[in-house]
Amino acid sequence: MLFVVNNIVQPILVAKALVKAFPAQQGSVPVLNGIDFRFSRGESISIRGESGSGKSTLLNVLSGLEVADSGSLEWQGQGVSSQSLSSLARLRQQFIGFVFQSYYLAPELNSLENVLLGARIAGSLNENVRARAIELLERVGMGHRLQHNATKLSGGERQRVAVARALINDPPLILADEPTGNLDEATAAAVMDLLLEMVEEDKKSLILVTHNPEFAARTQQQLILRRGVLGVA
Ligand SMILES: Nc1ncnc2c1ncn2[C@@H]1O[C@H](COP(=O)(O)OP(=O)(O)OP(=O)(O)O)[C@@H](O)[C@H]1O
Ligand SMILES: [Mg+2]
Repeated sequence: MLFVVNNIVQPILVAKALVKAFPAQQGSVPVLNGIDFRFSRGESISIRGESGSGKSTLLNVLSGLEVADSGSLEWQGQGVSSQSLSSLARLRQQFIGFVFQSYYLAPELNSLENVLLGARIAGSLNENVRARAIELLERVGMGHRLQHNATKLSGGERQRVAVARALINDPPLILADEPTGNLDEATAAAVMDLLLEMVEEDKKSLILVTHNPEFAARTQQQLILRRGVLGVA
């Protein structure tokens, strides 16, 4: 479904002149130096860039988990900076599925419970969601590890649970930070297939951070983050 306001297709995410620096012992470390970005429903883009170039910081800022020093950010036409913390958290749950670079699974929970946690927090837990969680875990090749505690999973297995968790609430926007970084070739390709299917069949939007040029080439637009700005790769 496209969001149409006054006959204009509304972009799903708009970033204008985002700037972000981190405090350091002497002065500060500039990371994002003016990110301008407009992104629509059903679009996929990849972002590449050297280690330390600010890719994870950019995803954190776009998801509202980090606050930019200046610039503006809109999700589906709503200004992010004007939201209270609680409405921002609620909006984020509905709007964004985030595959974190370091997964952030709950260690005391098993694979299935970790995926269901996303739905529980969003208040949408029911039998259908449980069936969807199992289906997503099967699609990332984790159907045989549903009851395995997160601490007992390998790095690549954790990564796949994190992908399933990001998709459980059926979010319109998926932010994936190197979601295949720890996977063998075949499993990585399966995870990429799943993410791109979400874009093609469900008209989701995907921002993919990857070091893999082949996976980057499968997205509609390839960008590179260099010296704090996005350019065409
Ligand atoms: N919370 C923080 N405090 C201080 N500096 C930070 C913080 N987070 C990130 N940085 C610095 O910002 C820069 C960008 O980090 P970021 O994690 O965004 O890079 P990246 O492109 O995702 O790297 P990689 O490919 O290794 O994942 C780095 O130099 C990092 O040291
Ligand atoms: Mg990173």
